[in-house]
Amino acid sequence: MPAAAPKLDNVVFEDQQPDHSESRAELLAGLQLPQKKINPKYFYDARGSELFEQITELREYYPTRTEIGILKRHANDIARHCDRDCVLIEPGSGSSEKVRLLLDAIRPAAYVPVDISADFLQESALKLGREFPWLRVHAICADFADQWQARTDLPEGRRVVFYPGSTIGNMEPPEATAFLSGLREWIGSDGGVLVGVDLHKSEKILNAAYNDAQGVTAEFNLNILNSVNRLADADFRHRNFSHRAFYNRDLKRIEMHLVSKESQTVRVNGSSIRFDKGETLHTENSYKYSLQDFTDLSQAAGFTLQKSWLDEKNLFSVHYLSAA
Ligand code: AVJ
Repeated sequence: MPAAAPKLDNVVFEDQQPDHSESRAELLAGLQLPQKKINPKYFYDARGSELFEQITELREYYPTRTEIGILKRHANDIARHCDRDCVLIEPGSGSSEKVRLLLDAIRPAAYVPVDISADFLQESALKLGREFPWLRVHAICADFADQWQARTDLPEGRRVVFYPGSTIGNMEPPEATAFLSGLREWIGSDGGVLVGVDLHKSEKILNAAYNDAQGVTAEFNLNILNSVNRLADADFRHRNFSHRAFYNRDLKRIEMHLVSKESQTVRVNGSSIRFDKGETLHTENSYKYSLQDFTDLSQAAGFTLQKSWLDEKNLFSVHYLSAA
């Protein structure tokens, strides 16, 4: 059932939001592990989505502006790989900013943004539908790691998944391989994936990108506790935790944690969760790849890497993978 009546002829909104009980169980299970953790998808409530937008504009946070540069510069070449009249599906579409750079070049038969943040998605889909009146927008509110595909009738056409922003970096490499290989089955042998991947670089640049001087990333990190409080009836207090982000050289990833400032007990869905002073709650991994590592990963998932586009400083990469 749609969450609200669509306000434009070319925009459809479909609500497949996971129910609270699933989220509650997942959150509690993560908080009961020896290394406590929260799935980073819980960053993106309304406030979190807004904070992430602010992150993308930070001087220190190079990925967004670099990827936008790549998409703008190579839009026509990218479009050649994607084909006209394809159905362009974007998991975790957020504000749908990046796809705007490709729409006129690709001219897809339909655009399918999938996002967990209902209000944000609806707003973005309507805005896009107004700006591109020729475009069919079929917005789906769902957790894209979930089985939403099985419950949805997508518009007909060759399926191309647009997965920018190095969101794939949130997954452990084996998980990313499984995710891509699942996509491959779903899009079929004529499908493709256009994916943005953050690259290895100096630790100084990496650490700065996740420890900005204004403290926006810290606020973004702490805001995940609001989601937990709301979704899992918890009583986390912001001021009892602090932001920590660092590059883990061995695992080639940025890790974000919330550090408990004191020993404390938090109630989560009726259970008591104890934190020692200095104990951390792991909120995010952001893996960084070399071109070779990512080529190997996409091959392991059954794809052929057709083309890679990079910026001049080799900070970020965009790849077209074909399922053939
Ligand atoms: C949206 C997952 C790609 O890992 O860089 C930004 C999220 N976290 N700053 C990233 C994020 C902290 C971002 N991704």
